[in-house]
Amino acid sequence: MPGDPSNLLTGILAQFGEQSRPFVEIAILVVLAGAAVATALNPILEFIDRMRRFGRWLWRSIPSIVRKLFGGRPPTPLPPAEPNRVIPNETTIWELYAPQQPIFPNSNGIPIITVANNKGGVAKTTIAANLAVYFRDRFQKPVLLIDFDYQGSLSQTIRGEAGYTEPDITADILISAPSAAINPALYAREMRRELENVFIYPTTYPFATIENNLMADWLRSEGGDLMYRLCALLRQPAYQEKYCAVLIDCPPRLTTGSINALCASTHLLVPTTLDDMSAQAAEYFLSQISRMSQAETRPVFPKLKVIGIVPSIVYRDGDTLLGEIRTRERLVRYGSSFWRRDDFVLTGASIPRTADISNYAGAGVAYVRKPRARQIFEKLGKEVEKRL
Ligand SMILES: Nc1ncnc2c1ncn2[C@@H]1O[C@H](COP(=O)(O)OP(=O)(O)OP(=O)(O)O)[C@@H](O)[C@H]1O
Ligand SMILES: [Mg+2]
Repeated sequence: MPGDPSNLLTGILAQFGEQSRPFVEIAILVVLAGAAVATALNPILEFIDRMRRFGRWLWRSIPSIVRKLFGGRPPTPLPPAEPNRVIPNETTIWELYAPQQPIFPNSNGIPIITVANNKGGVAKTTIAANLAVYFRDRFQKPVLLIDFDYQGSLSQTIRGEAGYTEPDITADILISAPSAAINPALYAREMRRELENVFIYPTTYPFATIENNLMADWLRSEGGDLMYRLCALLRQPAYQEKYCAVLIDCPPRLTTGSINALCASTHLLVPTTLDDMSAQAAEYFLSQISRMSQAETRPVFPKLKVIGIVPSIVYRDGDTLLGEIRTRERLVRYGSSFWRRDDFVLTGASIPRTADISNYAGAGVAYVRKPRARQIFEKLGKEVEKRL
């Protein structure tokens, strides 16, 4: 019968000569016997493996079973809290190694405004970009932006508006060691279209590595001029005569770029959203600024004036309204008690949350696109101007 295994075997054996047939028969027998043994052994091996896993589980469970049956040892008590332990005072690395002789920005020079806060996402970049265009229009003169945030959000916003899409970086030149071959003033990139007369030192991610390397070198050299490199540059006529103002955008950290911005600036603007968490962060940041500008032994940026706090991305309606009013009052109280100023919060120039602004994040400048955004930043610009 076709398909019968005995016929198949006979057919295979018929392929071989008389002499080799016994060997083929033996080989077939060995293969069949091996398959039979493996099939029989499989359940046995599986059983052994299960027993082995069960044994391991039992061994690991013994301590907890014993504890359950006979009660375990009481847990080791925690060591008593050190009665005199206090939270250490914060001192930044910049304060520790600041050079003895700081360089100051020109006392009657152009306004150099750093927009900073160690809290992220509070509209620092948005405010820097839009205020810059306000200053250009107001003074009918070129304005300079410096992007010291390695994320390059300001560069993206400004360059996007001008129609440039390839990443670019020249901000590193402003904090690198001076070189006879490079004139940093020539590396301010001129924008176009709606942003004529806006210049920017753009940045992008590699800036973070450059900053870290500069800081590491600085620490090794024990107090070189690193913190004041931007300040020394912006004092020069190439900047003082060409621009009506300089605005610097910082990341939410005290990086090499940020410390250069603070040391080179005449003014500081601190945006914050109106919730308690952000208010606390703004107050902490401002207390750091105060300490670093007034330190008795070695003030880092003694000439820096704080313009104040700008409430940003505020809702102005719905359930958040009451909370925002409370937080604003908290900041006003902080301004009058800590800074002895009743105008410390720019309450009349807060930036409302609006799609007219958020729709252009990283792609354009709301001030030149939307009349409503223009009004908002004109109001802020006028308040800022009053305090310069
Ligand atoms: N007035 C506003 N209304 C609505 N959205 C806003 C407003 N201002 C800023 N935003 C949005 O909030 C986000 C954070 O803004 P922005 O990048 O300016 O903050 P930042 O403080 O610079 O952040 P980072 O700390 O990351 O640098 C962005 O998506 C931006 O579009
Ligand atoms: Mg930013």
